[in-house]
This record gives sequence, structure tokens and C-alpha cells, in this order.
Amino acid sequence: MTMNIEDDKMPGISEVLEAAAHSLEMRKSSSQSIARMHEHGGSLAPVQLEQRRMIHREESVRPQADAFREIRTRLLAMAGQQNFVTLVVAVSPRSGGSFVARNLAAAFAFDEAKTSLLIDCNVRYPSQHKAMGIEATRGGLTDLMDHPAIGVESILYHTGVPHLRLIPAGSARESGSEYFTSFRMRTVIDSLRSRYADRYLFLDGPAIKGAPDARILADLADFVVVVAGYGKDTPGAINQALTHFEPSKLAGVVFNQVQ
Ligand SMILES: Nc1ncnc2c1ncn2[C@@H]1O[C@H](COP(=O)(O)OP(=O)(O)O)[C@@H](O)[C@H]1O
Ligand SMILES: [Mg+2]
Repeated sequence: MTMNIEDDKMPGISEVLEAAAHSLEMRKSSSQSIARMHEHGGSLAPVQLEQRRMIHREESVRPQADAFREIRTRLLAMAGQQNFVTLVVAVSPRSGGSFVARNLAAAFAFDEAKTSLLIDCNVRYPSQHKAMGIEATRGGLTDLMDHPAIGVESILYHTGVPHLRLIPAGSARESGSEYFTSFRMRTVIDSLRSRYADRYLFLDGPAIKGAPDARILADLADFVVVVAGYGKDTPGAINQALTHFEPSKLAGVVFNQVQ
């Protein structure tokens, strides 16, 4: 593996994720249809989770699940006792930023004592509701920003993964930066975090390249996980991307291989 900002503290994550990428790739062909989930329809089976490119507890995806657990352990060690907000952003589009955000959130949800909340902050190109087979009929983040009266409870969606909820991006399609710089956004994030001490928040942001959103979102986060496309983003591009964030917030770089 070519680089990792704090290699000694995060042993092996990139290698394991690489293996994970290969393995998930092989499973792609098993079924093309993503079964729609009912809003309160209980837990998804492992095969349904794999269709959503998500880890689960069975042995077959153990290396992937372990890779995400390692990142979880590292974040928890950085944070101490309190729950926190983690921004996950890719260096360039289609490097797996949303994939990592979703699975990291799932890894936290696997811990019975924790819940996790994934917030799709890619306003222009939202993907999590589609990836997870959720009909976002009650709106999402930007709808709450535009119409606070709808209330945050109504935009929290069950995902089929126990302890994991999703806030979809919502119906606006302009730049996210206006929403993210607003006082209301900070209030919403703060109240979501402080409402339950065991709730961990994951912001899925757009790629660092080409938009200011990632940088703006970092102000709302305690930690930043940067996702680099393995063999795709050059060391120069990765270094450049890292300069956007406060070093104290940087949890690490995850190398992800999208086939
Ligand atoms: N390690 C991986 N294994 C299998 N599929 C992956 C992996 N990483 C990304 N993908 C898939 O590649 C596509 C692009 O990934 P995505 O997370 O949406 O990228 P980004 O958010 O960086 O634009 C998605 O369909 C995603 O499910
Ligand atoms: Mg994405």
C-alpha cells in the first residue's frame, strides 16, 4: 500500500479493504434485483445486505466487516467517551465514499450498545436511499432545512439494519454549501447527536475535488475519514485533498478499490 497518513496507528486497513473490494465485487452477479424493503419491515437477510453492498455478521464477509470494525475502533480511541460526528469523503467521485460511509455506519450499528445515523449530504448526487432500497417519500435533509416544521423525526428512515437509520439528502438539487453553512444545519446536527448519548453520526459528503461542500461539512464534524480510490487517486491528489482539513480531525485515509 502506497500511503496512509498515520500508517502505524491504522495497521492493515487498506489491505483488508482491498480484499473486501474484490470479494464484494464477486458477489455482484448473484442477483441484480434489489428487493424493496418495507419501512418497518424488520431486518434484512445477508443476501439482501450484499445486494446493497453492505457488510453483515456472517463469516463470508468477515474480512470486510473486520476492516470497518478496525476503523470503528480507531475512531472510538480518538474520541474518548463521547459520541461523535464523522464526515466520510472521497478524494474524487466514484471512489467509494458512500460505500465506506454506509458500511462504517453499519459497523457501529453492529455494536449492540450503539446506534448509528447515516446522513446523505451529497445534495447534488444523493445515493444512499437508492443504494439501500429506501423510498424517501417523506423527504430528507434539505426538505427539513427548507421546512423545519416537518420535524426531524419524519426524515429518519429505517434501513433494515438494526440500530442504523438514514436521513436521505432530500429533494433539493442545488449546491449543498448554502445548506451546510446555515445555522440551522449546525443546530440539527447538534441536536441529533446530543439527543442520544449512544448515537453516532456519519455524514456522507460529496468528493473533495470540485466542490467546497466537503470542507464546509468538516466544520460540522469531529472526525474526517478520507476515501481514496486505490490505483485511481494519485499520492499528489490525496495529499492535496488532505490539506483541506484540520490535521486534528483527520482519522485516516481508506484505500478502496472499486472494480
Ligand atoms: N469496495 C467496494 N466493493 C464493491 N462495490 C463498491 C466498492 N466501493 C464502491 N463500490 C460501488 O461502486 C459504486 C460507486 O461507489 P460510491 O460509494 O457511490 O462512490 P462515491 O460516493 O465516492 O462517489 C457504487 O455502486 C458502490 O456500491
Ligand atoms: Mg457518494
